[in-house]
Amino acid sequence: MSPPLLEIDDLTVHFPSAAGPVRAVDGLSLSLERGQTLGVVGESGSGKTVTFLAAMRLLERSRPEIHGRILLDGVDVLTLPAREMREIRGPRIGMIFQDPLSALHPLLRVGDQIAETVRAHRDVGRRDAWAQSVAALAQVGIPNADERARQYPHQLSGGMRQRVMIAMALILEPDLLIADAPTTALDTTVEAQILGIIDDLRTRLGIGVVLVSHSLATVADVADTVAVMYAGRAVERGPCQAVFAHPSHPYTWGLLDTVPALGAERSRLVPIPGSPPSLIDPPPGCRFAPRCAYRFDACTRHLPELVERGGGHADACVLPVPGRGARRNRLEPPGEEAAA
Ligand SMILES: Nc1ncnc2c1ncn2[C@@H]1O[C@H](COP(=O)(O)OP(=O)(O)OP(=O)(O)O)[C@@H](O)[C@H]1O
Ligand SMILES: [Mg+2]
Repeated sequence: MSPPLLEIDDLTVHFPSAAGPVRAVDGLSLSLERGQTLGVVGESGSGKTVTFLAAMRLLERSRPEIHGRILLDGVDVLTLPAREMREIRGPRIGMIFQDPLSALHPLLRVGDQIAETVRAHRDVGRRDAWAQSVAALAQVGIPNADERARQYPHQLSGGMRQRVMIAMALILEPDLLIADAPTTALDTTVEAQILGIIDDLRTRLGIGVVLVSHSLATVADVADTVAVMYAGRAVERGPCQAVFAHPSHPYTWGLLDTVPALGAERSRLVPIPGSPPSLIDPPPGCRFAPRCAYRFDACTRHLPELVERGGGHADACVLPVPGRGARRNRLEPPGEEAAA
């Protein structure tokens, strides 16, 4: 059996700080098969970007302490020499960075920026690289790509810039596309277009896609599998359908309560009470426990591991409730069954 396209195995990324190590990622395991989309969701600061910057080996300047493995087709990218990593970053893994305006050079025409990427990895002339760049812009649905390629980032709308980022990430035909919150700054119509473009390219090119988002609703239509992150750890993961139909971690229930339901009589959003914990001094036991309406003593003593509940659906919660997912959308404190 061939290994998964991407496998993250017990990853920890701790950044040094005066107050002690910041545990941005702490024991995270994930995997993604070729041709599929993995949705990674969680609140701001849950470690999503750090995880995938670690996979690109772009954190080294911050001197983090990194443990665990990040396997691309079975090869641990964390152990590769920098020279080999340059042949991974771009040609094997393309990344759409979270902030397209700062990821694009403000003083270079967008067509030239993409052409530069081509020339850095392939032995092609300027004219050829430019033609490939224009074709890539057309492929992501930019009209008059020839003209747009001659423009500077500030002359493009947010949605256009995001398309440029997708074109740049895919120009070298990588096996894996990491899209870090690619639609956060966009209105819902453009968001749907961008997600549609990414999904078309996935089907057409057979690549694997990691789609990072704050919201489960954003990834619902396109993800095959979903991982829900909280404070640097995965608290639930599984097939997208199963996580939606039977979410089994109280944090996921909370995330779903923040999705407005179509046709609901009242569409009041229920925020998750409290705020994420300190990553320097996280609470003992389950990191979500201080905000969890269902916690009991054991939750504050032991840090729960992800446990498979069947069909590839796993959660890191010790709540002994049969039919756990049935409690979705009812964040009232547990009854006797939960305390038993
Ligand atoms: N270079 C760094 N040095 C120190 N701490 C960092 C560094 N990069 C990130 N962090 C910290 O790591 C934690 C996780 O950050 P990360 O950017 O991965 O969150 P995120 O889940 O991507 O959030 P968002 O949804 O807002 O993008 C945060 O507390 C952040 O402050
Ligand atoms: Mg981020």
